[in-house]
Amino acid sequence: MGYFASAKVFSGTGHYYTGDKKVMWGERINFRLNLKTMYTGLIHTHSLLRYLLLILLLAVIVKAFLGFSNKQAFGKADNLLGLTLFSVTHTQLLVGLLLYFVSPLVHFDGGAMKDPVVRYWTSEHIVIQLLAIVMITMARITSRKMKDDTAKHKRMLIFNSIALVLILMAIAMSKRGFFSMPGAAS
Ligand code: HEM
Repeated sequence: MGYFASAKVFSGTGHYYTGDKKVMWGERINFRLNLKTMYTGLIHTHSLLRYLLLILLLAVIVKAFLGFSNKQAFGKADNLLGLTLFSVTHTQLLVGLLLYFVSPLVHFDGGAMKDPVVRYWTSEHIVIQLLAIVMITMARITSRKMKDDTAKHKRMLIFNSIALVLILMAIAMSKRGFFSMPGAAS
């Protein structure tokens, strides 16, 4: 009988039975939730999403700049680009949050703050990137409520440019370089 098809009797005392076989919770955790594999998948996804996010962010900024300086209408393409950036940013947030709880570089003990690498990944990265995500989110939410198209472009331009500066600053502070690959550095 397969693992998932088998009937399970839970004991509530650190093990359960699959038929006659006694299965410890630890084995089940190893089987279902291999943290290392999860970490590898998450760090690669998070690392790659950074490029997509930065390309979209740059495209939104350039489009907003042109729209603002040429007093163009805020059209469907602007809306779609903004929505795509918004979605990718929130996916990056979700992946980052999951990564935060499996990364070996995130520590919650007091002494960890003395190590600059651990301090960066435990507190500095999350704070700066969250601020950037707030700016991208606010750019979309507040500009959507505006009636004047030039004002919309201006809001998108300013808030997203601040987000770009914050993201670049955070990546520079990580000392992994702008084109890092997971596992290549600390
Ligand atoms: C705009 C949003 C974000 C961007 C652009 C971004 C970018 C990055 C980059 C470039 C790396 C290094 C990847 C590599 O070495 O290849 C990284 C790692 C990481 N990020 Fe983010 N990040 C963002 C948001 C977040 C958020 C919100 C969190 C936490 C809630 C987070 C948690 C982490 C963690 C834990 C690591 C991994 C450290 C490690 O184990 O190597 N990130 N991020």
